[in-house]
Amino acid sequence: MQFLEWEDTYNIGVKEIDIQHRGLFDIISKLSTSQRYETDGKYFFAMLIQLVDYTKIHFATEERYMREAQYAKLIEHQQEHTVFITEVMKLVHDCEKKEPDIQQKILNYLKDWYMAHIMGTDRDYQKALMDKGFT
Ligand SMILES: [Fe+2]
Ligand SMILES: [Fe+2]
Repeated sequence: MQFLEWEDTYNIGVKEIDIQHRGLFDIISKLSTSQRYETDGKYFFAMLIQLVDYTKIHFATEERYMREAQYAKLIEHQQEHTVFITEVMKLVHDCEKKEPDIQQKILNYLKDWYMAHIMGTDRDYQKALMDKGFT
């Protein structure tokens, strides 16, 4: 079984966002695979950086949609994104220093954060975007 598997029920209904969410899950799956099979951690670290970069692109996309839809909770949502980037950068730093059990800690954090954010905070803007006719 995969560490984090995409299910269609996770879809928001806006194609660009759903593709990106799926892309984020794919990178996390690659992280999980390399945690299990890789010995030197180089690929894991490269994938982690890729995840951060892709997450920044995704957050910018989402924030653009929310702005265009004049979504009422844009600021709160943006703050959650900012806190995540700060947290994940601390984990990148710990990973670089090869802190004990850091890979597992990172994977658990990512899984919990993305599931809670996509199923909760992201789901909350769904209606505002639908009402604007975004698909
Ligand atoms: Fe999202
Ligand atoms: Fe979000």
